[in-house]
Amino acid sequence: MASKKSLHRFLTGVWRGRQIRSFGALPEGSASSESSQHLINLEYNWLFCSYHPIPIVFSQAKGSSIWDPEGNKYVDFLSAYSAVNQGHCHPRIMKALVEQAQKLTLSSRAFYNDRFPVFAERLTSMFGYDMVLPMNTGAEGVETAMKLARKWGYLKKKIPRDEAIIVSCCGCFHGRTLAAISMSCDNEATRGFWPLLPGHLKVDFGDQAALEKIFKEKGDQIAGFLFEPIQGEAGVIIPPDGYLQAVRDLCSKYNILMIADEIQSGLARSGRMLACDWENVRPDVVILGKALGGGVLPVSAVLADKDVMLCIQPGEHGSTFGGNPLASAVAVASLDVIRDERLAERSAQLGEELREQLVKVQRQFPNLIKEVRGKGLFNAVELNSKALSPVTAYDICLRLKERGVLAKPTHDSIIRLTPPLSISLDELHEGSKALQAVLELDLLKMKKEKPENTTSHAAVDACDRCGRNLYASS
Ligand SMILES: Cc1ncc(COP(=O)(O)O)c(C=O)c1O
Repeated sequence: MASKKSLHRFLTGVWRGRQIRSFGALPEGSASSESSQHLINLEYNWLFCSYHPIPIVFSQAKGSSIWDPEGNKYVDFLSAYSAVNQGHCHPRIMKALVEQAQKLTLSSRAFYNDRFPVFAERLTSMFGYDMVLPMNTGAEGVETAMKLARKWGYLKKKIPRDEAIIVSCCGCFHGRTLAAISMSCDNEATRGFWPLLPGHLKVDFGDQAALEKIFKEKGDQIAGFLFEPIQGEAGVIIPPDGYLQAVRDLCSKYNILMIADEIQSGLARSGRMLACDWENVRPDVVILGKALGGGVLPVSAVLADKDVMLCIQPGEHGSTFGGNPLASAVAVASLDVIRDERLAERSAQLGEELREQLVKVQRQFPNLIKEVRGKGLFNAVELNSKALSPVTAYDICLRLKERGVLAKPTHDSIIRLTPPLSISLDELHEGSKALQAVLELDLLKMKKEKPENTTSHAAVDACDRCGRNLYASS
């Protein structure tokens, strides 16, 4: 564990150049002229709302700081689901964006452009793969990897036509397209969207024996094993030590592509460039997204070596915007920031600090906090929902917001804490302080004010496919 001294030295060393950035005051340009409530009402009137947001309106942001239209300041503990690892509106990324936007934004892949090759070279050399296939959103990256695995399965593994299977994990989240939700255990994501995509089997995350069993039984048909090295949306679920290595060994043994969805866990979030680096394993296919666009543009990418990537031929897959020059310039700057500001090391050290603080809060409220877990700045606090009831993690997040900290629950009882990796030590401490204050000062009143919950979670949450209650409140 890093000593306090070395943590401070590390932070002041790396961040000396950025101390001129002020997070205390509203950045240039005043607050929005519309009030938060007016804007929220407008959104409910005019927009299809497929999320359940915390009622705060982002108006400006810098680093880890967010301002609402009224000029109130908050600390971001979500980072747009890890898309803003580098911090909001990072000056180097903004410079790349503006300069490129004034020169060339789109060529389509019908022609060449002078930015994509630079991005492709930077990304492949940084992660040690032969080739990259660029897309835009994370879900598109996942779709691309699945298509690639199927094509490889038929061409190289000689799986009989229409029989290719992709194995994924219970509790996974890979996006919202039909292929991605076809792997989901979350009824809200799947109900009403049937039929789901065929050619798909599920296995428990972190269970090496179950994986081997499925590979043994169906290995001849299995093209790929798609998984998150740390499950994000499921509640920052970290597999047992040795699991990633076991996945690597089993995939090699049964000639199955190991496909790591590092869209959320990658790009320094977990304290390593890739979460797979924690066990020094090299997947056959890596999917990146989110922070690849520096919180500015949707940029995703699939990395693989030639023997896999070249299974897809020209004309068989693509995207109008994938590899566009504007996204490419932004992605190069985003990667440079992660490397130059040593965000992986920073994430590892600050993550330890955050968990240390959170464990202190847990010691104060052992009945309320079931577990503090995480790697780097990819963290979650799992609450004991019975002790908390009728209050939920969402209610706690509402109070955190009142205390200046923006976090989002996942499922009923988990609060994810994933601030930008550029967060300062002081801002980091605000997270645990706010949680401590909510549990100590607000909870009793919240319990009194909230009517008892009459919903049975068991009935609501049992997975349609396996009947298990993965997201049961604990
Ligand atoms: C692991 C993982 N894969 C894929 C996605 C989908 O990315 P996007 O929302 O950019 O389509 C997400 C989004 O949260 C994710 O966490």
